[in-house]
Formats: sequence, C-alpha cells, structure tokens
Amino acid sequence: MNDTFNVSSIRRDFPILSREVNGKPLVYFDNAATSQTPQQVIDVIVDYYSTYNANIHRGVHALSQEATDKYEQARHTIQKHFNIAKAHEVIFTSGTTHSINLVANGFSALLQSGDEIIVSALEHHSNIVPWQMLCERTGAILKVIPMNLDGELLMDAYQNLLSTKTKLVFCNHVSNALGTVNPIKQIINKAHEVGAAVLIDGAQAAPHIKADMQELNVDFYTVSAHKMCGPTGTGILYGKEEWLNKLPPYQGGGEMIAEVTFEKTTYADLPHKFEAGTPNICGGIAFAAALDYMSGIGFQTIAEYEHELLSYATEQLLTIDKLKIYGTAKEKTSVISFNIEGLHPYDIGSILDKLGVAVRTGHHCAQPIMDFYKIPGTIRASFSFYNTKDEIDILVEGVKRAQNMLQ
Ligand code: ALA
Repeated sequence: MNDTFNVSSIRRDFPILSREVNGKPLVYFDNAATSQTPQQVIDVIVDYYSTYNANIHRGVHALSQEATDKYEQARHTIQKHFNIAKAHEVIFTSGTTHSINLVANGFSALLQSGDEIIVSALEHHSNIVPWQMLCERTGAILKVIPMNLDGELLMDAYQNLLSTKTKLVFCNHVSNALGTVNPIKQIINKAHEVGAAVLIDGAQAAPHIKADMQELNVDFYTVSAHKMCGPTGTGILYGKEEWLNKLPPYQGGGEMIAEVTFEKTTYADLPHKFEAGTPNICGGIAFAAALDYMSGIGFQTIAEYEHELLSYATEQLLTIDKLKIYGTAKEKTSVISFNIEGLHPYDIGSILDKLGVAVRTGHHCAQPIMDFYKIPGTIRASFSFYNTKDEIDILVEGVKRAQNMLQ
C-alpha cells in the first residue's frame, strides 16, 4: 500500500460524503452504479459554464476556440490514459450503452445471415440487447459463453464456440453484478485466431484497472465517465482505426459531414464521423479532469486499497448467519453481491437506506445472471477508494439489524 494514501484526506475532496441521509451519515456503497465527484472535477464543470461555455469546432470567436482546445485536450488525456495509438480512435459518446449501440448498428452493414456472435453469460443488458437486435436485423446467430457457480467464464466452452463463422465477440472486462474480472486478454487472442473482432465493455473495469489498448490489442473498448469520478452522460468508444473506418456512421447531423448537397453527403474523417450534433462538451472536459484526479492518487494504489476493502467486507459479511455471497471468482473488483436466505433483497436495501447506507438491490440489469442462480436479485455493495472499513462495519451492523427486524 502506498504510504501517501490517506483516505481521510481523499474523503474531504468529495463534498457529498459529508451529507446525511435519513438523519445518518451517508455510507455510499453504490459506486458500481455511479461514483461520486470530487471538488476538483466539480470546479472544472463550474469553470466551464462560468467562463468559456460555447459550441466547439464551429466558431471563430474566442470562447469557441477555447472550448474546442479544452475538449480536444481532453481527448488527448483520455488517449494517453488508455495508451491509445491515435487521438482519432477516441470517440466521445454519452457512455457505454451509446458506444455499444454505435458498434452494433455499424455491424449491420458487415454481417450476413448465419454469421455468429459470441457474448458472455456475465453481460449487462446493454451488452446483450444491442446484439440481439443486430441478430434480428442480419440473421446472425447469438452464442453464449457459459459460467460456473463462482461467476467465472468457462474458457474451454468458449474455445468450442469459436469457429470461422464467428465474426464478433463481446464481453465485459468486469461483471457489474458480481465483480468478476474476466480473462479478456485470452478472450481477445482466441477471437483473433479465428478472425473475429472483439468489443470489451470496460464500464466496470476502468474505475479500478488502467487498461492498455495497445497491449490488449482489442478492437473496441467502452468506458463511462460517471463510474470513475466524472459526470453522467459522457463516455468514450475506443475503436481501432481500421474498424472505425469500416463502420458506417451511427447518427447523421452536423459535425459528422465533409460536404452536404441534396444529392449526396460525404462524411467527415475520424473521430467526427461518429460525433454528430453538439456533444457533451463540459462532460468530455470533466471526464479528463476525473482521470487526472484518479491518476494523481494512482490506479495501482486505488486497486490495492479497494482490494483490502473487498477482503475485509467479505470476511465480515460471512460472519452473518444465512448470508450467501454470489460471485466468488478468484479475480474480483470491489463488488459484493449477497442475499440472506428467506429475505427479499429489496426489504434489506430499504432498511439499509433508513440507516444511511446506499446499496443497489435487484437484478442489476443482468437478469440472465440472476436466472442462472435462480434468484430474483441480490443486494450489491460496491466500494470505491474513498470508502472505509468503518463504513463496512456500519453496513454489516445494518444487515444484521435488518435480518432481526425481518425474520
Ligand atoms: N450498470 C450500472 C450498475 O451496475 C447502472 O448499477
């Protein structure tokens, strides 16, 4: 653990962490849904709207130039963070769902009936539904990499699904519902052996793991800013230049054109071909500020501290009678999904809320995982680097209290 890591001082960066909920100090354990925002990023948002709010790539005036420069600098910060070869391989989107739909829509033009697409059993609905829609449009067939009870993918089964018919493979880097870290390097390499392209949904990984696009040699990778101290409504699609050139534009409009007549339109070069309309300018700039903030702490330091929280919380929760944890993979991020036998997750979540503890309950937009375990949902506590062991103690006491009240 890095000696300079000081969680008390980090917590002071997050104004929301000092508020109360239902008369109790907030314990925020819903970080996998949305992380909180440090003052350093809030200041960037306020500065944007206070001093240089303008549309970008359009005006000759000073504010437009300033906003354009800051937005393009943000693209470079993101490029550098993920070790992306070219800045125009970073496409700004509204987030992971938008990024995935952009790719799925583009592949409509490239797939034929009978082609095969592979997804994993651990996917969020946003990495299932767009591919089902793509299959409906093209006649392609969807296949699923199965998982075991620990929440790990069965790699032998994956190997058996791959063939020259496989055109695309989709998998999350980290499961939002269970926290499993998937062996994406192996998944990518095996897909490439049969000539398939790979999209990795990095929404849940990027806050914990600094992924290197060139080292992974992945074709597409998606990230949402709001999971990593940035604002909602902003994210990126990383795509290899060769793939982005092959895909048709997703949306038509301003910014994405080279020339328009009523007879014919030609499209702008990357990245603008995929960035129709006025983007979330402030969001992009604030996303880069969030990356700077987290890099200042250090991704390795963050991962080590969160791992300590995960181990502590696992140990403490398992002292509770009739509590079962779902997702016991060897490689996990700081997510714990659990249930208490005989009790509904929603009831426990509601009592925890009364105690100021924010967790997510339900199927976590991953119904196939819940079906696999034959449960309606779980209680999910997801930790960030600004959480503490004292907060975990409050969660554990809260769960015990809920159990006593409900049983
Ligand atoms: N995908 C987000 C979650 O897992 C919303 O909670």
